[in-house]
Amino acid sequence: MNINGRTAVCGLIGNPVEHSISPAIHNNLAEMMNIDLIYSTFKVENDNVDQAVKGAYALNIRGLNVTVPHKSAVIPSLVEVDDLAYKIGAVNTLVRTDKGYKGYNTDILGLKRELEEENVQIENEDVIILGAGGASRAITYLCASLGASHIYLLNRTVKKAVIIADSVNSSSGSNVVIPMALSEYSKLKGRQYIVIQTTSAGLYPNCDSAPIEDMEFYEMVAQGVDIIYNPAETKFMRLVKATGGQAYNGLKMLLYQGVAAFELWNNVKVPKEYTDRLINILEKEI
Ligand code: ATR
Repeated sequence: MNINGRTAVCGLIGNPVEHSISPAIHNNLAEMMNIDLIYSTFKVENDNVDQAVKGAYALNIRGLNVTVPHKSAVIPSLVEVDDLAYKIGAVNTLVRTDKGYKGYNTDILGLKRELEEENVQIENEDVIILGAGGASRAITYLCASLGASHIYLLNRTVKKAVIIADSVNSSSGSNVVIPMALSEYSKLKGRQYIVIQTTSAGLYPNCDSAPIEDMEFYEMVAQGVDIIYNPAETKFMRLVKATGGQAYNGLKMLLYQGVAAFELWNNVKVPKEYTDRLINILEKEI
């Protein structure tokens, strides 16, 4: 890599940032696409988010990714926010404009691209989402915007599922989201569903756990998408496969959120040949 006076700078703000896979994604993409750009990480404390964003803009930084815990806190520092990102209330990508940064949520664009590629169709389908944290909120908005028939939002703490359901239902003007307790899945028996697993159950190093362990539940799963990518095969995925369903992990979602950000920053389209190569690189990194 030849870093010179014209090399553009992009990076990640968050805390912690040390274990991020984003530098591997963007620096590899820059090399493959022959774009003069480097990507690094910036640890930013909670009180410094606004200063960090304004400072980055002043330093002519081309674009930033934003990670935990700043995805919502960053919004007031932006000049514009993409519609879906605004509804979700979380931004993970900042793109330079004439007046400041515009915010996008490429996490959700990444999942959308993964679903398309794996032929997981949401439109007119019944979807179950497990979990009601930050990721679930974004994914519930995505499934509603993609035209799901029903979205059963199951969470250990029902109250949190109710809050997300109210927000998505009032924004879409429908009752598409039905909040339920995780333990209530037996009420949904008798049909096949697309299930998106967003809880942290099963995440490394707690690899031997899944939010629901009962095989009866897994018999209802036609396609199961876990947003976890470490381990590459979660217990949820193993249980889906054991009952004849198809299962996917979150690696493509992770990769495609990066690809979408890279495309926005550089006004390019990354060919599939490169994203396939990157998947192999990331599998080794993780
Ligand atoms: P994220 O921002 O990644 O979505 P989060 O906001 O911390 O993470 O949310 C974690 C989700 O995983 C929550 O829905 C949590 O359930 P509660 O709301 O009841 O806490 C869920 N979760 C975590 N561990 C779980 C477990 N062992 N079984 C079931 N759900 C679990």
